[in-house]
Amino acid sequence: MAIAHRMFLILLTSSILLSSKKASGCYESVISFGDSLADTGNLLLLRPPNNLPRCARPPYGRTFFHHPTGRSSDGRLVIDFIAESLGMPFVQPYVGGENEILSGVGFGKGVNFAVAGATALDHQFLERRGIYNPMTNLSLGNQLDWFKQFLPTLPDGRKFLEKALVLMGEIGGNDYNYPLEFATNKEEPQSLVQSLAPPVVNYIGQTIEELIKLGAKTILVPGNFPIGCLPVYLTQFKTFSSEDEYDPRTGCLNWLNDFSKYHNQLLQNELTRIQKLHPHVNLLYADNYNAAMRFYLSPNEFGFGNRVLRACCGVGGPYNFNLSAMCGTKQATCCEDPSMFASWDGIHFTEEAYRLIAQALLDTIPHIRTICPSISRPVGVYEY
Ligand SMILES: *[C@@H]1O[C@H](CO)[C@@H](O)[C@H](O)[C@H]1NC(C)=O
Ligand SMILES: *[C@@H]1O[C@H](CO)[C@@H](O)[C@H](O)[C@H]1NC(C)=O
Repeated sequence: MAIAHRMFLILLTSSILLSSKKASGCYESVISFGDSLADTGNLLLLRPPNNLPRCARPPYGRTFFHHPTGRSSDGRLVIDFIAESLGMPFVQPYVGGENEILSGVGFGKGVNFAVAGATALDHQFLERRGIYNPMTNLSLGNQLDWFKQFLPTLPDGRKFLEKALVLMGEIGGNDYNYPLEFATNKEEPQSLVQSLAPPVVNYIGQTIEELIKLGAKTILVPGNFPIGCLPVYLTQFKTFSSEDEYDPRTGCLNWLNDFSKYHNQLLQNELTRIQKLHPHVNLLYADNYNAAMRFYLSPNEFGFGNRVLRACCGVGGPYNFNLSAMCGTKQATCCEDPSMFASWDGIHFTEEAYRLIAQALLDTIPHIRTICPSISRPVGVYEY
């Protein structure tokens, strides 16, 4: 297990580990970009009250916050666990800005630009390929624009960014989700997402390079999850899939997991390329894929048992998922104990699964807590 853990995160740049250094003294803030895996309230705040997203309704939020916050889970997300582990407050949604300033909280300890439903590529690009976003037209480019508007409002924006831990994603998952979710066969969406992966990764890379130009020094870039294990796709592709297309160890769909691995490989190649150009920046790849794979491979060990491929909240079906009546609609019911499920609503994870994923990431990157962006370190190769 220990060896597998070490593979979760590859530190692309090296650092002399200051293991005795105190954790929370290092970063002064957390800045986040992404989609529903990281949104702590932006989409909810963007929508008018008569058109709230499902994540604004119960039972979302029931485990931890005890009310919906706009997080797409029953409780905390990976970003929340990372913030907690750094001794920081939860990262505030940017869209709530005015209110935060009024309440005196401000963004001094962090700001979150992630929007549920957001894609990496902009919506016109995707629409030209016949891909329509039913949730929001906001993409990573809009989030970067918000950030560029926000930065000059600070007394020293560059310094703020230098001392921040930047979370870039997960982003890009929705660029693939929309063509896959509405698929009526397998071959078309398969070749479509395959062709989207290079521009998606390229766009993420460009955004990272812009942030580096603005002063970012430490950027954590998560890969995609094993999407072949998600109830949404196990349901969607059930009728198009033969038995030999499932991984016998997990019951997950191989071609979708292979696609996640493909995206993740491109992303790592891109990070390696950028790292070479900017040796003094800490680019960290977070291996979401293997962090989640742990509980798909050994569900009993994590308390998920034979429920690991079923959603906690839904209306039934073999994976308790139905695209026409999802969690947050009136028909859907919630399981009694979400911590016994990995999947919350068929697309997103439960707080318990996010906690395990965050734990895996933090365990394998102790330096996420010890890297101090203000201290420049010699470059080398970090050996596990
Ligand atoms: C996105 O933009 C298109 C125009 O390109 C518009 O028709 C659509 O309603 C917008 N969708 C959302 C969810 O805002
Ligand atoms: C989803 O719900 C619809 C309408 O109730 C039903 O016709 C369909 O069979 C359900 N799908 C699954 C996979 O259960």
